[in-house]
Amino acid sequence: MRTREARLASAFVTTVRLNAFDLGSVVTDALVVGINASPDGPRPAPGAEALDTALTGGLSATLRALGFSGKAGEIAKFPTFGAVSAPVAVAVGLGDAPAQDGAYDLEVLRRAAGVAARSLAGTARAALALPAATPEQAEAVALGGLLGAYDFTRYRTGGDAKPQLTELVVLSDASGAEESVSRAATLAESVTLVRDLVNTPPSDLPPARFAEIAEEAGAKAGLSVEVLDEVALKDGGYGGIVGVGQGSANPPRLVRLGYTHPEAETTLAFVGKGITFDSGGLSLKPSASMAWMKSDMGGAGAVFGAMLAIARLGLRVNAVGYLCLAENMPSGTAQRPSDVLTTYSGKTVEVLDTDAEGRLVLVDGIARAGEDGPDVIVDVATLTGGQIVALGWRTCGVMASDDELREEVVDVAVAQGEAAWGMPLPEELRKGLDSPIADIANLNPERSGSMLAAGIFLREFVPEGVRWAHLDIAGPAFNKDAPHGYTPKGGTGMTTRTLIALAERYQAAREA
Ligand code: BES
Ligand code: MN
Ligand code: ZN
Repeated sequence: MRTREARLASAFVTTVRLNAFDLGSVVTDALVVGINASPDGPRPAPGAEALDTALTGGLSATLRALGFSGKAGEIAKFPTFGAVSAPVAVAVGLGDAPAQDGAYDLEVLRRAAGVAARSLAGTARAALALPAATPEQAEAVALGGLLGAYDFTRYRTGGDAKPQLTELVVLSDASGAEESVSRAATLAESVTLVRDLVNTPPSDLPPARFAEIAEEAGAKAGLSVEVLDEVALKDGGYGGIVGVGQGSANPPRLVRLGYTHPEAETTLAFVGKGITFDSGGLSLKPSASMAWMKSDMGGAGAVFGAMLAIARLGLRVNAVGYLCLAENMPSGTAQRPSDVLTTYSGKTVEVLDTDAEGRLVLVDGIARAGEDGPDVIVDVATLTGGQIVALGWRTCGVMASDDELREEVVDVAVAQGEAAWGMPLPEELRKGLDSPIADIANLNPERSGSMLAAGIFLREFVPEGVRWAHLDIAGPAFNKDAPHGYTPKGGTGMTTRTLIALAERYQAAREA
């Protein structure tokens, strides 16, 4: 038996283990198998053979009797009555079998594993016997399972005492699956942390606390960490972050996380919007619009999670991550609509609307990132309601300084199962940001195309000659509806894995 343990500091699963495909040697409470839909009814997918054999070929008939068709997302649990060592079997739908034998779409596998894991609350150990004939498939199964098992119980009385899924075993005999299962654990650990941060009530995650967490976890992962407090921000000329943060009793922070690799050929800079709560400031939001504004630090969360994973994976790139942390509150010290800020770049901004605060903190991070000599800057932000209007709750908007980079980011995101769509930066929107007194205004009073106008605003602050991409994740950062696939209710951790995958793509070629 080949096993590989990967420790996981998840809110839920504590161990993910790989087992060569040998059902007999697995001690588990639940056995998860995949089922394809077909014109003749449900069909066992690769991985389900052993269970089918133990049921003397009766798996399809049993499932048909349960009304189970095998369509994606479907789930059925049934007792095995001693046919296999696991007392419970869980069938999860994989949809139609792939056109090419065994060539399962990785996102189908992630989602199926996620749905199965979510259904296992109250079960301690589960084995995933889903299609995992390649290391990529094994990784998808492990990752989906780990992410699907997520539950945020910290704020429930006795929440941690509930029986929890503590061990997931991925059954695979693919060579190289050890490394991919361990990679999945690293990715899941980052995404889990981001979800936890987004879900944490904003009173427990003011900028200084977020910075402290980054300092601690960053140092542990081997990142260099620099934290600028409100005094350093003021002295340093970070007018955007200071302006947004000055209305709150919880002062702002800028965190720089640094990672270098001796063989690196490329330097990536990530900049995240980290508004720990967005009330709108004096341009106060209506109360219904404030409901999810604890998620307004989701961009900084993604940057933080990605930096940790990049260090843990030892990627052959240089990477810096900036967390632009502030709380946007109304008060006697808050910035006023019509105030003018001098940003870190030296450019002045007239604040027409204090609720367009994300771009104000981001441009300080973007300008500062220019000092690291990056080849590419990628910012991630829950930036505009316009993103949700245009693309809905699950698909992030991607804008960039050039078409090639935009398409690359979209491709990388989609390959991770993080829905993304390219968006333009129409030149004619720039003049809507003209200010009568400052270099630029933070808002076009004419609201149409507001996601794109925000992108146009940011572009003004990108250092000369640096490629830049902007991800608007206003909707995708937070799932206010029912869980789906491996996505829970609440914080999603969206685009954390996209940033990691981008860094992987920009790695130096490995020495032959
Ligand atoms: N944090 C919000 C954007 C947002 C909206 C995120 C809904 C998640 C869900 C951002 O700071 C904001 O308030 N944007 C305004 C800007 C407007 C005043 C120009 C918007 O898009 O409505
Ligand atoms: Mn706002
Ligand atoms: Zn905001």
